[in-house]
Amino acid sequence: MAAVFTRGTPVSQATRAAKMAPVAVPLPNAETSLVKRMGMAHQNLLSVWQERDYRAKSIRFKMLNQDYVVCNSPQSVRHVFLREHDNYDRKSPQMRNALEPLLGDGLFVSDGDLWRQRRRDCAPALSNQLLPAFTEIMTSSARETAEQWRQLPADRPVDMLGEMARLTARIIGRTVFGDDTREEEADQVVAGFTEYQRQVEQLDLGSTLGMPFLNLLGNPVRRHRTRYSARQVHDIIDRIIERRGQRPDAERFSLIDRFMQRGQAQGPGGKEGGCPFSRAAVRNEAVVMFMAGHETTANALTWTWYLLDHDREVMTRLQQELDDVLGGRDPTFDDVDRLPYTRAVFEEAMRLYPPVPLLSRQARAEDSVHNREVKPGTIMMVLPWLLHRHRLLWDDPDHFDPERFMPDQPRPDKFAYLPFSVGPRVCLGKRFGLYEGILCLATLAQHFTPRRVPEHEVRIECRLTLRPAGGMPMFLERRAA
Ligand code: HEM
Repeated sequence: MAAVFTRGTPVSQATRAAKMAPVAVPLPNAETSLVKRMGMAHQNLLSVWQERDYRAKSIRFKMLNQDYVVCNSPQSVRHVFLREHDNYDRKSPQMRNALEPLLGDGLFVSDGDLWRQRRRDCAPALSNQLLPAFTEIMTSSARETAEQWRQLPADRPVDMLGEMARLTARIIGRTVFGDDTREEEADQVVAGFTEYQRQVEQLDLGSTLGMPFLNLLGNPVRRHRTRYSARQVHDIIDRIIERRGQRPDAERFSLIDRFMQRGQAQGPGGKEGGCPFSRAAVRNEAVVMFMAGHETTANALTWTWYLLDHDREVMTRLQQELDDVLGGRDPTFDDVDRLPYTRAVFEEAMRLYPPVPLLSRQARAEDSVHNREVKPGTIMMVLPWLLHRHRLLWDDPDHFDPERFMPDQPRPDKFAYLPFSVGPRVCLGKRFGLYEGILCLATLAQHFTPRRVPEHEVRIECRLTLRPAGGMPMFLERRAA
């Protein structure tokens, strides 16, 4: 069967074959038993899938009496994420359990009427009209990173994952909390988050994603630590909200301010108990935005740098575009439309390394997918990792080829290319994240050509997000002015 998404630019078979595919997750061999594969999944959730799974329309299995269905075709993704959304709007119970201590009833984990209400309330704060102002935060933060990089000795590698995490934390911190947030408060929030995530991932790697059988040994000490770090994050954010509440006439631009204004518009303090924009709701949504918008973009950018080093012709073409369009100045909101190749590189990087590689939902009622029964309670999984490398949907699925995303090419099916998910629960920061990636890349790649430390073996780690195991050490080669 021909691939649905064909490449437009003629690259000869020989050239294609000569280029090595970038790193992927090793496939288990066809004889490896399911039990053994589940053991491997404890290290990396993506190592379970065999070659045939990259061709399948759907995959079904049952573990510890729990039914699972992997929707692995655009039709089934459309069915679950769009057409029958109301039946599948719930995150898996394990995901909710893992994140509730930190996010409370925040948008990311809520469902039903509460989710609908919260989505309506939060969406204006991330609307397209406000995006240009947020992009100034993105570019100025990336410029600070470039300035810091200039102070470093060129022959000492940096961990690109750490660098990108610091950069995106700075951007989302300023966006959510505003510019007057104290440096030490921002650091404490990041530290609390990191610790929370570390504890949850150790505790709940499997169950967070709807696979509790991967995690039979619960650990009460870790659970306690998880709650402790969540409380730390809450305390700091409560303080920031309190302070901003006492300065009603201050310049109000952060997401927190937007949520607070909305709360005030709905009456004094909103109502407690989950109704829109009580004090606790403002805090919960601030935490959601920080969590959802921080590590995702950092991982996407890190994988982009890895791919640009992997294929230096692509790096050269990207820098040529930046030189032609920007000529050394910082990019602005309006420049994004003038940088189609930069955008294509970032989109292709998210195809090969989707920052959120696995999405899971729970069926409320009986249904059928691909003419087979889905029982209530079934965990439905959609894996951007599998769909983005599906053998029947893409030409050269494992190869890095930004051309696929150039404007003169047909757009991929949105139910097969879904780094930001799709349907009513699509990422609320989709445009924000896309612009952030493009603008950070454009600001930094004008001045630096990061080169991977050749001795470092790049491996994929799949936890809640997809990141390079052990970071990504790179040298920061300066470009001539
Ligand atoms: C490259 C960057 C990003 C990627 C790849 C990404 C990806 C995703 C994905 C896949 C989901 C759906 C998760 C699920 O259904 O289980 C999601 C949800 C969400 N994202 Fe993003 N995201 C990114 C950046 C951001 C940013 C910057 C923000 C905020 C400023 C944000 C806010 C949210 C929120 C609030 C949700 C929950 C939406 C809902 O449940 O209604 N994301 N994101």
